Amino acid sequence: MAAPGKFTEKEINPLVSLDEWEEDVLQRYPDPDTIAKEKSKEEYRNYDEPSRDTVREFYRLNHTHQTYEFVQQKRKDFLQFNRKEMTVWDAFNFLNQLVDDSDPDTDLDQFQHLLQASEAIRADRHPDWMVLTGLMHDMGKVLCLFGEPQWAVVGDTFPVGCAYSDKIVYPEFFKHNADYSDPVYSTKYGVYAPNCGLRNVSMSWGHDEYVYQMLKDYLPEPGLYMLRYHSFYAWHREGSYDHLLDDHDREMLKWVKLFNPYDLYSKCPTPPDWKQLRPYYEDLVAKYLPSTIKF
Ligand SMILES: [Fe+2]
Ligand SMILES: [Fe+2]
Repeated sequence: MAAPGKFTEKEINPLVSLDEWEEDVLQRYPDPDTIAKEKSKEEYRNYDEPSRDTVREFYRLNHTHQTYEFVQQKRKDFLQFNRKEMTVWDAFNFLNQLVDDSDPDTDLDQFQHLLQASEAIRADRHPDWMVLTGLMHDMGKVLCLFGEPQWAVVGDTFPVGCAYSDKIVYPEFFKHNADYSDPVYSTKYGVYAPNCGLRNVSMSWGHDEYVYQMLKDYLPEPGLYMLRYHSFYAWHREGSYDHLLDDHDREMLKWVKLFNPYDLYSKCPTPPDWKQLRPYYEDLVAKYLPSTIKF
């Protein structure tokens, strides 16, 4: 792995904003309701728009550099949580520094996305820990503010240390990954035992694993699965990697699937009224989370 200094800015951050990745996911997995109501499938599947190139480049970098070794290094570094300690509310302000001024079409800041997801979950009367999961699920994107490249923060996640599924978006880019021709990592099970359970599998490094590790002592198990695997589309949308799952993963899959539409389809043009909602969320955060969180 080359030192970060050896990468040019484009090689680190090809996306104009992190939202470009999410917009691409939305094109791949459009809201069934929206398709029915408003847009034709053709419109969603328009792969010729300019953002396709930056997203493609983003995945080329992601698939090239997310090796087993890279993931272990990042885990060793970031899972010490020795960078910052903040209240949840300060952490939202910190996360909102990710707002991208160069992109006027980026309609909502990071906090608005989190609040819209959590409000949509609350409106459907799911348990309060799931509302909190919605509020916190992208907190791991602060990795960008610690200088991490976009391809090590967002993007679909996938197991490393074993063969890549062809259900992962842009699978052709994996041939540039050093693990692709490794005698162990390139095999079906790689470093893992059959059906070892996802808890024993290293996922490509990004905001999912980071926020899971940050909050693993504070939320119920289904919420932790939502945090940890919400970008693992090859599993929860495409049904791949069954050979690594155990029965507990299969049981938890329904929760990850339940969560996904709130992440993808909860954007609404009128932002929630934060002033009015604040007391509810202050109580909710105080109920489950400690007064400060370590980053
Ligand atoms: Fe996310
Ligand atoms: Fe999200």
